Amino acid sequence: MGGTNQGATTTWAPPPTTPTTPIQRPRVITVTLNAAIDTRLTVEAIRPGTVTRASRGERSPGGKGLNVARVAVQLGAPVLATGFLAGHAGRFISEQLTHTGIDQRFVWVEGESRTCLNLIDAGGRSTEVLEPGVDITPDQLAGLESLVVSLISPGDAVVFSGSLPPGCPPDTYARLIRAARAAGALTVLDSSGEPLRQALTAHPDVIKPNAEEASALTGRQIDSPADAAALARTLGCDHGIAAVVCSLGGNGAVLACDQGAWWAEPPTIQPLNTVGCGDALVAGLSTALVEGRGAALLGRAGATLAGGTGATLLEDAGASAPDHWARCLVDAVTVATAAALSATTGSVDRSDLDQVRRRGVRLHDTGESVECEWST
Ligand SMILES: Nc1ncnc2c1ncn2[C@@H]1O[C@H](COP(=O)(O)OP(=O)(O)OP(=O)(O)O)[C@@H](O)[C@H]1O
Ligand SMILES: [Mg+2]
Repeated sequence: MGGTNQGATTTWAPPPTTPTTPIQRPRVITVTLNAAIDTRLTVEAIRPGTVTRASRGERSPGGKGLNVARVAVQLGAPVLATGFLAGHAGRFISEQLTHTGIDQRFVWVEGESRTCLNLIDAGGRSTEVLEPGVDITPDQLAGLESLVVSLISPGDAVVFSGSLPPGCPPDTYARLIRAARAAGALTVLDSSGEPLRQALTAHPDVIKPNAEEASALTGRQIDSPADAAALARTLGCDHGIAAVVCSLGGNGAVLACDQGAWWAEPPTIQPLNTVGCGDALVAGLSTALVEGRGAALLGRAGATLAGGTGATLLEDAGASAPDHWARCLVDAVTVATAAALSATTGSVDRSDLDQVRRRGVRLHDTGESVECEWST
């Protein structure tokens, strides 16, 4: 101690603290490659070859990923929407997302984002006309892959939903999932056909086929929740997928993981609109994942959360892995059932959620016990 400071006035200062970076909650990042303006026209009747005047028209941002984003925001998850947007239609979609409180980072490409036309006639029947979407070049796709990777913080759930636009090869989701997993994200896939089949090789953490999509994938028929559970379990085992969720419309959904399979049976309801209920289910699953319940089960992200800032997010740290997955499933089916009670696609009301919770989603253990090696 030198003498020069002796007798100097000292002021109290708080003890030094370790510098901290603000804690960022894990986010749901939705990837929408083929965004659209969903245009809903109410008509008396459709007569091909004649002029049809609509009595009402509504437009909203569409594409399955954007439905997931909307519901996840309503559930209180931090959400970021990405994908491709183009032209005036893209600007409309972007503005609407901003009004809904959805953060966004899109790759802008030339052309116009597509329109999906839904004509509702007096009998309530729906006739859809879907534009293919903007042609995406390999460079634009590579640009999106880099953007997605740059947006990921470990523990985020990246959701890939919907069809591929023209120009995107069928291995697009496989590539994006590999890149997102390598960046530390949990990956959730809701697609169909060849893009889904090829994506299995990238071991997404969660897939959500409906019964028809799961049957097409495996060539096996699904006639009951037990069939769906057995098929989901086999799919997961064969492809190293941590959780396979197969949705069954009004019969709810099953989830198979390495420790078993469950069926969540919703209460009987009078649905108002079942379009996009699968997206609501995906939003419910993804929200549960970023809240830490599912992440606790997945080696990579679980380790990141437990060792990093997310430990407090593990609401039920004491619960066993099957309990975590079963709760994810029940929560997701609760959300999807509430979505069926909402007239608006890609939306849940708090009062409907409360109603479904009050009436209760019943959880059944399907007793699936196929031995398998998981390689996630
Ligand atoms: N009629 C219904 N009654 C109650 N819940 C429903 C009904 N239809 C759908 N759901 C809920 O929505 C979930 C998803 O439904 P579904 O299996 O039809 O998905 P999907 O075919 O992928 O739908 P989409 O692709 O249109 O979003 C179901 O697991 C269930 O929880
Ligand atoms: Mg679906």
